[in-house]
Amino acid sequence: MVEKSQKIVVVGSGYVGLVTGACLAQKGFEVVCVDKNPAVVKKINSAVPPIFEKGLDAVLKETIGNGRLRATENIVEALAGSDIAFIAVGTPFDGREIDLSFIKAVCGDFGKWLSETASRPVIVVKSSVVPTTTEKVVIPLLEQLSGKKAGVDFGVCVNPEFLREGNAVSDFSNPDRIVIGSTDGRSADQLRSIYKWAGVPFVVTNPRTAEMIKYASNSLLATLISFSNELGNLSHSVGGIDIKEVTDGIHLDSRLNPVVDGKRTNPNILTYLEAGCGFGGSCFPKDVNSLIAFAKTVGAKTGILENVIAINERQPGKITELLKHFIPNLSGKKIALLGLAFKQDTSDTRESPSIPLTRELLREKCDLVAFDPRVKGEFNIIPGCEGLKHADGWKGAVTGAEAVVLMTRWEEFREVTEDDLLALMKSPVLIDGRRFFDKNKFGKIKYAGIGFRPL
Ligand SMILES: NC(=O)c1ccc[n+]([C@@H]2O[C@H](COP(=O)([O-])OP(=O)(O)OC[C@H]3O[C@@H](n4cnc5c(N)ncnc54)[C@H](O)[C@@H]3O)[C@@H](O)[C@H]2O)c1
Repeated sequence: MVEKSQKIVVVGSGYVGLVTGACLAQKGFEVVCVDKNPAVVKKINSAVPPIFEKGLDAVLKETIGNGRLRATENIVEALAGSDIAFIAVGTPFDGREIDLSFIKAVCGDFGKWLSETASRPVIVVKSSVVPTTTEKVVIPLLEQLSGKKAGVDFGVCVNPEFLREGNAVSDFSNPDRIVIGSTDGRSADQLRSIYKWAGVPFVVTNPRTAEMIKYASNSLLATLISFSNELGNLSHSVGGIDIKEVTDGIHLDSRLNPVVDGKRTNPNILTYLEAGCGFGGSCFPKDVNSLIAFAKTVGAKTGILENVIAINERQPGKITELLKHFIPNLSGKKIALLGLAFKQDTSDTRESPSIPLTRELLREKCDLVAFDPRVKGEFNIIPGCEGLKHADGWKGAVTGAEAVVLMTRWEEFREVTEDDLLALMKSPVLIDGRRFFDKNKFGKIKYAGIGFRPL
């Protein structure tokens, strides 16, 4: 089979599904993206990205323009004649365990299609699911609904995605590994064939190991962040130790930061070994929580992971503590928040540390004004965040404020200077929730950052 003649369907057109579909279309495949949200489908077909991701607009213009990509709400029509069908819907944590309702709903449509098709398509679970989900939930559902046998009449693979929001197009197009968990070699080979362009190592394994690789990877990154935050909080308690200097010192360990051709490589992993106000986003909190919950079902202990979550949940509260050190009574005080997205280069606010902080400062009756280059009034839909005001730029947010809090490392905020704050603010207090600024450049104002308390 000539690989590019394979017809690919991706169900769920969010960060993972749309980027997967659009990038595979750019590689020459015929792709249909399915989403149940008509607004998402309409935007994709107009080559307008429904989400903010660097480079996605250009990929959509190209692939919608040349007809390789289209979107639809009609899953039945999309699946007809397709060779490979990805499941890329959300898998949230419901507070108790991973919520598989979106996956199960898609399996319902897939089962019906499988019962009718004469071909042998491959179903690919790209959504993150806890180990054994594909074997114990997805395959039994598909077999039951189709009356056919996985590995014989249709293939099933697990193919976790490792892209980072904010770099999704680049990450998908330049992956570091492709993980395929499969029930049969033929399906693995078929899926492998669509990634020939990647030129990276393939890890071909069983489904549950593939699922575990995804959760282990995210758990490791989350652990590095909570580890850095714990040491940051310890440095603060001791006083006179700046966690930034500590982590800079750790970063020079050549086992973490190899020297190649006489130069430091400064790998991206080092950005997870920095103290801040905690991790958020649609993956780390829910994946670590889901893995902890899953571990309980098999009687395994997850002490490290439970503490990773506990440290992370406490971390936004550290910002309020720093603020209250300078302004004990926050009631009625204008406070500026710089950044609402869970990290820079995305408009995603899911589990953003800015949410608990906003709730807490509004409960304290602050006059809270935010500026985020990509997040505006939609933030106010989040329960407890209704009272947040928005400024048009960071200068508008800080004008007349008694404190400014940096929560997201947007490059735009590099232009904030001490002179600006002195000129614009009522009483300049800068709380650096990400250790984004050089504290030595803010010596004339009251500065406090996570992981540092001057003696
Ligand atoms: N966002 C990331 O950075 C990232 C990275 C790696 C893996 N993942 C995993 O990928 C999966 C998807 O994450 P996401 O961030 O892209 O989710 P998302 O919430 O951005 O998108 C999911 C989309 O699926 C659609 N959908 C839900 N049910 C549907 C159905 N029955 N039919 C058609 N469409 C349906 C929704 O309308 C939505 O547009 C999750 O399991 C997540 O953990 C996410």
